[in-house]
Parts: sequence; C-alpha cells; structure tokens
Amino acid sequence: MFCTRAISNNDLQSTEAAETFVLTTPLYYVNAPPHMGSAYTTIAADAIARFQRLLGKKVIFVTGTDEHGEKIAAAAAAAGSTPREHCDVISQAYKTLWKDLEITYDKFIRTTDPKHEAIVKEFYSRVLGKGDIYRADYEGLYCVNCEEYKVDEKELLDNNCCPMHLKPCIQRKEDNYFFALSKYQKQLEEILTQNPKLVQPSFRLNEVQSWIKSGLKDFSISRAAVDWGIPVPNDNKQTIYVWFDALLGYISALSVEKEQPDLQTAVSFGWPASLHLIGKDILRFHAVYWPAMLMSAGLDLPMKVFGHGFLTKDGMKMGKSLGNTLEPNELVHNFGADAVRYFFLREVEFGNDGDYSEERFINIVNAHLANTIGNLLNRTLGLLKKNCQSTLVVDSAVAAEGNVFKDTVEKLVEKAQINYENLSISVACEAVLEIGNAGNAYMDENAPWSRFKQGGAASEAAAKDLVIILEAMRIIAIALSPVAPSLCWRIYEQLGYSKDHFNTSGTKWGGLKGGQVMAQPKPVFARIENKTELEDEATTKKPVKSKQKKPEVEVAAEA
Ligand code: MSP
Repeated sequence: MFCTRAISNNDLQSTEAAETFVLTTPLYYVNAPPHMGSAYTTIAADAIARFQRLLGKKVIFVTGTDEHGEKIAAAAAAAGSTPREHCDVISQAYKTLWKDLEITYDKFIRTTDPKHEAIVKEFYSRVLGKGDIYRADYEGLYCVNCEEYKVDEKELLDNNCCPMHLKPCIQRKEDNYFFALSKYQKQLEEILTQNPKLVQPSFRLNEVQSWIKSGLKDFSISRAAVDWGIPVPNDNKQTIYVWFDALLGYISALSVEKEQPDLQTAVSFGWPASLHLIGKDILRFHAVYWPAMLMSAGLDLPMKVFGHGFLTKDGMKMGKSLGNTLEPNELVHNFGADAVRYFFLREVEFGNDGDYSEERFINIVNAHLANTIGNLLNRTLGLLKKNCQSTLVVDSAVAAEGNVFKDTVEKLVEKAQINYENLSISVACEAVLEIGNAGNAYMDENAPWSRFKQGGAASEAAAKDLVIILEAMRIIAIALSPVAPSLCWRIYEQLGYSKDHFNTSGTKWGGLKGGQVMAQPKPVFARIENKTELEDEATTKKPVKSKQKKPEVEVAAEA
C-alpha cells in the first residue's frame, strides 16, 4: 500500500536518512518555447516523483534547460536577441509551463549557470587526466538539430537528410578534441549484460546493445566554430560540445544552491541518479556516451535510463523542427492541468508512441474523470447528505468486514502500485479507474437509495454501503494523485480532510472513521463540452469553443 507512514515531526528528521530517489528529465533546448512533446517527459517525471514521495522516499526531481550550442545561438540571432537574453526568456517559459502543469521539481538547472560551467570544466579535466581526450581532425555529415555528426551515413535519407528532422546534414571538417568512447566498448557490453534493467523498456536495451556491438567510435567533444558554449579548459579557441556539457547538468543540479560547488560535493548530494527519463531520440547519448563518460571520470552510472516514445501528429514526431507541435499552454488553459496530465499518461502507453486527437481527449477525460470518478463521489455524497446528515455512521474498516468489494479495491491498489513502480503509468491509471468502475457497479447493485426508503436494517446497510464507497473514493484520491493532483485533492477535501492529512494518508483500507463529516457535495471535475457536438446542436448560433463547463451539480442524489 502506498504511503502507510504518517510523517510526524520526528519522522520529518528521519526522511533525511530515508532512501533518496533522484530522477531527471532531459534538460530542454531553449531554441524555441516548450511544446506538448517536451511537456510529456516532465509530466511523466512528475507523476513518478509524486508516487515516490507517497512511498515516503526523499525525492530529488531535477529538470532544467540546455542553453549552449549552435542551434541556440542561431535561434537567438533569428529572434534579434543576444543568446543570453534569448535563453532567459525561453528558460522562463519552461518554468511558467511547469507551474501551470503543477510540476513539483526540486532543482532547475540552466547550463549557462556559472556553477554548472565550473563542474563541466572539472569533469573535462578529470577525463583529460585519465588520458581519454585527444585532438584530431574530423570530417563528416553534421545535423545541427540533433547537434551530432552522423557516424552511420546509412541512417540518412535521400540528399543526406536527417531522418528525424528531415533537413539535409552539412559536410563539416573540424580540428576537435575527441573522447575515447571506443575504449569503453567492452565495459559497456559487460555492464549491460550484467544489469539489463539499466536500459528500459527492454526493446530499447536491444537497440543499445546492437549499437555497441556494431562498434563504438570516438566522438568529438569540442567545436571550433561555435562561440556560444563553455570554453575548453586550456584552449579558448574551442567550446565544449553541447552534449558533453548538458549531461553534466544532472550532477551540477544537485549542488546548484552551493556557493562554490565542486564535482565531488555535487556527487555527494545524490549521485547516482535513480532514473533518467528521456525520449527515445536521445537514447544513444544517455545509454552509451554518458555511461562511458562517467566511467572515465570514475563516477557511478545511473541506475536506470527509461526511453519513452513520441507524441506524434499524423504519425510524425511532434517537434519544434517540423513545426507540427501542440500548444501545451492552450490545452492547460482550455481543459486544466489534471485533464492534460491524465490524458497523456493514461492514453499513451509509457514507452510507446501515441497520437493526439482532441475528440479522443475530450471523450476519455469526460468518461473517466467526470463520469466514473466525479459522479460516483457526487452521487454518494448526495445520498449521505440526504439520509445521514453528511456523517459517516461507522468506521470504514467495520463497514467492510467480510465484504468482497474491499478485497477488489485492495487488489486494484496493489496493481496500481506495482505498475507505478514499473513505470507502466497507463496501467496504473487503469487500475485506479477500475476501482471507480467497481464502485459504480457496487452502488448500482446495492441501490442504497431504495434501501433507505425501506428503513430499519435495510437502511442501516445502505448507510454502511455509502461508507464503503467513500472509503474507496478516498483510496482513489491517493492512488490517482501522482497523475491528477488537484482533482484528487478536491476529492479529499470533499471527504472532510485537510491538506496535511492528504499528504500523509495511505491507501490502506480503513482511513475513514465513523462520525467524520463530509463536505457539501460539489462536482470535483466538470465535463468538457464537446465543440463538435455543440456546434452541431447550434449551427445557427454563435460557434462555441471547447472548454470546461463551470462546475454545477449534474447528478441527482438518487441516480
Ligand atoms: N537538450 C537535449 C537533452 C539534453 S539532456 C542532458 C534535448 N532537448 S529537446 O528539447 O530537444 O528534447 C527534450 C526531450 O523532449 C527529449 O526527451 C525528447 O525526446 C522529448 N520530446 C521532444 N519532442 C517529443 C515528442 N514529440 N514526444 C515526446 N517527447 C518528445 O534533446
């Protein structure tokens, strides 16, 4: 059961010693404002962070922005700004979106932060000291959007186009510093064989293993032609390659509040990361380059790298380069953070690609959040108000003695927990929804509204049934809170609790006690009106924009 520990004052101290879960999102490029694809990784990371906190772990959730390199300098020039001004604006846009999406990150690192730069230089010097950096000429095809030389030219499309960005790669020749990746081939092979859980899902591990098997080539880690970057120690004519810079953000973030952080101190604040959450396009950097860089510097490897799929539009990756993005601010503004978070985490199986459609969005969110969950709560509270003065007649543990519905709920909560732990977030949501479905079925079978009318023992049984359903509702509110936090808080509030209790309560059956007074029934999630339906209904009237209805009581207490 998640979070069965109550956090008292004493417990708060012991959380320092509690197991720490460090998870990271990629650090986002600031060439353009965030889109729904960039928000997707962060929403998933936030759900995982919240789930780990429910388990009582100390969580360090790292996110941030990747601000150096040619692509960013070009975007700034195109916007008529200096790179620094441009980075400030876009980095802030990320922070604002994270606030609107209720992202509870602990550290936000910007790679232009001088403290990060100091750590990158120290790391570079360590790797240099290890003898893993050398200077050489390199000639090859470069994709500016990927910020990488395409070592395997067979991967390219006609006209040397990058398959991801559909733009031609440029022939480049440079005198660069190189990292001796090839030296680590064997070690990487061994580590992945011994620890296959390092790269997930398992089909991505296969991909990584086959890259390694096909032979690792050293890669250049400096750029002679790019000014907007961290200068190479002892050679101001070159800057450090963006990836050799940005990956270090995962470590520098850990000590960003320190006055003069150094690598060792940063590492001592929580390295290695428990989980790097990334999109599949940046798997090679995280599962091949990064572990080799860490081995070279004598640092531990991350415990897990999970590569999720893409949000697509008409089958193509949604992205800044192709310009086929979905605007997250607009979605949040129209439908609210809970709906956006729930839809993408429930509908896209984490690890695979998923396509967005507004119709599907509205249908899913209405069916699951407004109907299954919202209506169940609303109609139960309505009946309780009418028949029991909004007060629970007995403890939920007593009400459910020998009741199979309670067993069903317990099994489903366990299923949700296992799936959150395995990062199968969609299946976890499904399990929570099943509790709602089971609750609605229980209600319909037992029809407490008619048993109240019979009076006597039938009425007492009906009052107990309401306690049982509301306890299930309480458990739903905790179990779904990683995904739809505000909605779940509103459910909890309706059950007569304060925020403190919400943060420390668990999913173990028996939380609701006899005598507890519920709040006035009020819909916790308003149905989203469907634009097409409304427009069909009123073709002659003004067009109506999709939006959430103002909450209003929708379901009669006896329904
Ligand atoms: N700056 C690098 C990451 C450096 S980490 C040390 C980068 N930035 S990015 O802004 O281009 O992408 C950041 C993340 O957003 C990646 O994980 C990428 O997969 C994800 N997404 C961007 N578009 C996406 C979709 N359409 N769908 C899902 N995620 C996608 O790469």
